[in-house]
Amino acid sequence: MKGRSFLTLLDYTPEEIRALLRLAAQVKEEKKQGIFPERLRHKNIVLLFEKTSTRTRCAFETAGYDEGARVTFLSNSQMGKKESLEDTAKVLGRFYDGIEFRGFSQETVELLAKHSGVPVWNGLTDLYHPTQVLADLLTITEHVKKPLSEVRFVFVGDARNNMGNSLMIGCAKMGMHFTALAPRSLFPSEALVERMRHLCETTGGSITLTENRDDVCGADVIYTDVWVSMGEEAHYAERIALLEPYRVDADLMARTKNPDVKFLHCLPSFHDLETSVGKSVFETYGLREMEVSDEVFRSSASVVFDEAENRMHTIKAVMLATMTDILD
Ligand code: CP
Ligand code: NVA
Repeated sequence: MKGRSFLTLLDYTPEEIRALLRLAAQVKEEKKQGIFPERLRHKNIVLLFEKTSTRTRCAFETAGYDEGARVTFLSNSQMGKKESLEDTAKVLGRFYDGIEFRGFSQETVELLAKHSGVPVWNGLTDLYHPTQVLADLLTITEHVKKPLSEVRFVFVGDARNNMGNSLMIGCAKMGMHFTALAPRSLFPSEALVERMRHLCETTGGSITLTENRDDVCGADVIYTDVWVSMGEEAHYAERIALLEPYRVDADLMARTKNPDVKFLHCLPSFHDLETSVGKSVFETYGLREMEVSDEVFRSSASVVFDEAENRMHTIKAVMLATMTDILD
């Protein structure tokens, strides 16, 4: 994988994804034991952010520092404003050994990869969030005691957002059984669904789209994300009306009829009134919680903070795999 970019899971084979997950588990164990081989010494990496972040930025920084890399955080560059993407990519490729990008357009991350000549990692675009899915898969292997190919995974909410798309791809690649529980208008695009159903014919997975809460029966994992993604803030009223019946609450968890079901969320989450956005939604719409109830978020089924930690280990694996020959 040395020299490759990580722009979408569509570009990676099931075996490559499994190798990244094994490497992530290995580096997680090494860190726990205090072993720091510094395999990225003398590597410089740059983190470009058009959108806000806590986990992704901190995961790239801590993972980079653990491995001896030097890290630049850049959120106010000339890129796209006074300098073309192509020119910026060519400049950054002269300075850096790897580039992370978080922003709006998937095309931006693809152009950076095309013109920089170094590995580029997608830290979230409007379309995909592939490093998050690696963390989610690692978390599932740790908490669900079945092979991934037997796991029944339900994504609840805005199933056509970056997480809905990327999780459907990740599940299909791993041969998992993926269900999107969402209002029809928020189902993932037919083109992507068709492509993933086709892929499932070889991996053994399946893709189900449903509007019926009872279809969570038998789920091993219930996953949700915010109702309004970054950049879509104009859509609160419409999304709340569409998605209120799809909140992950104790009733939905009970409908799985699985006492061992786990709850995952990429975070950040609106499960109480402790955020300025949450407070303003409460003042306008009267909601105390959005995509998940505080009860479920804090329940023993919830593994969201293990999942957040796994961002660091999986991102470390992606950087090692693409900047060194550790998996070649
Ligand atoms: N899950 C995730 O990407 O978190 P941040 O937005 O905080 O990076
Ligand atoms: N769908 C969310 C994910 C945040 C990690 C967003 O794009 O805002």
